[in-house]
Amino acid sequence: MKTFERIGVLTSGGDAPGMNATIRAVTRAALANGVEVMGIYEGYKGLMEGNMKLFDERDVSNIINHGGTMLYSARSPEFKTEEGMARAIKVCEENHINGIVAIGGDGTFRGATDLSNRGIACIGLPGTIDNDITATDYSIGYDTAMNTVIEMVDRLRDTCESHLRCNVIEVMGRNAGYIALNTGIAVGASIVVVSELPFDEDKAIEAVLESKKEGKRNFIVIVSEGAEGFAEPFTKRFAEKTGIETKFARLAHVVRGGSPSLRDRVLATEMGTEAVNLLLEGKSNLVVCNHDNKICSMDIDRALILDRMYKGKLKEGDLDSYSEEDVQQMRDFCAKKSAEFKKLYEMSYLISR
Ligand code: F6P
Repeated sequence: MKTFERIGVLTSGGDAPGMNATIRAVTRAALANGVEVMGIYEGYKGLMEGNMKLFDERDVSNIINHGGTMLYSARSPEFKTEEGMARAIKVCEENHINGIVAIGGDGTFRGATDLSNRGIACIGLPGTIDNDITATDYSIGYDTAMNTVIEMVDRLRDTCESHLRCNVIEVMGRNAGYIALNTGIAVGASIVVVSELPFDEDKAIEAVLESKKEGKRNFIVIVSEGAEGFAEPFTKRFAEKTGIETKFARLAHVVRGGSPSLRDRVLATEMGTEAVNLLLEGKSNLVVCNHDNKICSMDIDRALILDRMYKGKLKEGDLDSYSEEDVQQMRDFCAKKSAEFKKLYEMSYLISR
């Protein structure tokens, strides 16, 4: 077991419900193991500026149920420069921080890798509503965001039913359609549009007209924000093609706030304690993941490459240091993930009438 004097914890990138529960778990697990915890404010920016506070148990009391992040978040282009990185390392040395748990998305992990390569042990935790981190089945915040979407859309459906209307609703998720697809199924949407898969507009409209003929009075269309520029013009087209009065709503950041769901609180706690365990085992440059409902971890570099592979954005040389067997494993992983996504998408249409 490695001995740590003090670790730091930070949140970076877009906030997500459950980040506070994660900060709490990291802090409590470290303190229980005799390791001090420095709460670093405003992500990597705060790390460079030395904006931090030594936490005790009570600093993380009464936060498990709160949305947002009590450590705040900030984007920091300067951290990506050599000078920024040198400043961060100096702050770590001055404050006796020899390990960091960084909670966020892929940008956060890239920062964690850079620090790991310079001798600060880092563990990344996936905290984003988008669930767009290929290495994990679930990211912290995703479940709450989806629950918020279905609560909002159920309300819209009530009023659609009264007035025989359609509501086109755009939901967050950056380039990933996970929130749109799963909530589309959960709210019984007539149409789901994601950027990852083709959308047959004529067929979808035909199905809507059929079900209207059969007496259906409410129509919900869920569009992922990844389908850029689609939702608003489609609202107009849908109304013209169907003759159904159609409203547009963009849920935007409302989906990023709020009290975390049970699932996110438990996931945050499992991942937070695992991050501390990994540091104590002397591990670094890992991201904690959830696979088939089990907590595990993956090398951050591999996780980032897997992510690029899944999104069709591999860079030259990305696979050079991996064996053929490894590369095949990664390809199989991605193929399985996209097949599952496609299956859900097809299912959403099968039952949409
Ligand atoms: O990554 C989380 C997320 O909320 C995305 O769903 C969205 O595209 C983006 O962040 C919005 O970022 P900002 O809060 O900087 O507008």
